[in-house]
Amino acid sequence: MSMITLCDAAKNPIGVFDSGVGGLTVLEKLSKKFPREKFIYIADQGHCPYGTKTPDEIATRVEKITHYFLKRGVKAIVIACNTASVHIDAAKKITDVPIISVIQPTCATAVAITENKKVVVLATKSTANSGVYQNILKSAGIENIVLPCGEFVEFVETRELDDESGAKMVEERLAPIKSFNADVVVHGCTHFSLLQGFMQKTLGCGVKFVSCGEPTAEYLFNLLSEKGLLSDGDGGIEIYTTGDEIKARRSMKWFLTPHKEAEKIYIE
Ligand code: DGL
Repeated sequence: MSMITLCDAAKNPIGVFDSGVGGLTVLEKLSKKFPREKFIYIADQGHCPYGTKTPDEIATRVEKITHYFLKRGVKAIVIACNTASVHIDAAKKITDVPIISVIQPTCATAVAITENKKVVVLATKSTANSGVYQNILKSAGIENIVLPCGEFVEFVETRELDDESGAKMVEERLAPIKSFNADVVVHGCTHFSLLQGFMQKTLGCGVKFVSCGEPTAEYLFNLLSEKGLLSDGDGGIEIYTTGDEIKARRSMKWFLTPHKEAEKIYIE
């Protein structure tokens, strides 16, 4: 009979963050995969969007949020934001706690499922400019286009997700990539999964979409099991915003996984 050994840190929470509500699409999958884990989610809405900020500004937010999580005694940090994941080293240089980027697991899934070796990545301007997705896909022999769609972030943060103006916005933005005929589209920004219905209408049923949530959850599972860090506790989700609490709660209405309502915190 095998014995499961839990490290002392196993009962500690997992920190998850994004510039806003996009990372909740990742948290949704994490909490499904890890019902016994405690999660602390930060929506850095006081500094949203990240996608139009300079690399230094984004790295500073990554550093500050990492310090906050370390004060809360987390056992792992998931950067549920592609734009911030590009700057994972800013977090890694201040701690040995495992830090997970959404980019590599998500990219690996896209590489595994594309049949025609053509992939489109929808991302923020900052992620697109970093070249990270282009490099990984190119070295896997995948032809790719990384399309900046920063305006989708504001839409998801501020509008009703079924607001029909979203259809027009998505159709216009995706028009240039239609003739590329990619069979896989990656949500290279965690906000974008929430607009997948509009995208599917524009691109048709032949396209497969890859979101960051499931690949990241799988990756985290392997990592926590390897390190003996899986919890056998009760689980639960606390949510904090660096923005306005009332607006935050409104912007998270669609997030149906049981959680404590968003509370305001200051991370400066
Ligand atoms: N959700 C974020 C991402 O995955 C970034 C959105 C933003 O703040 O620009 O890239």
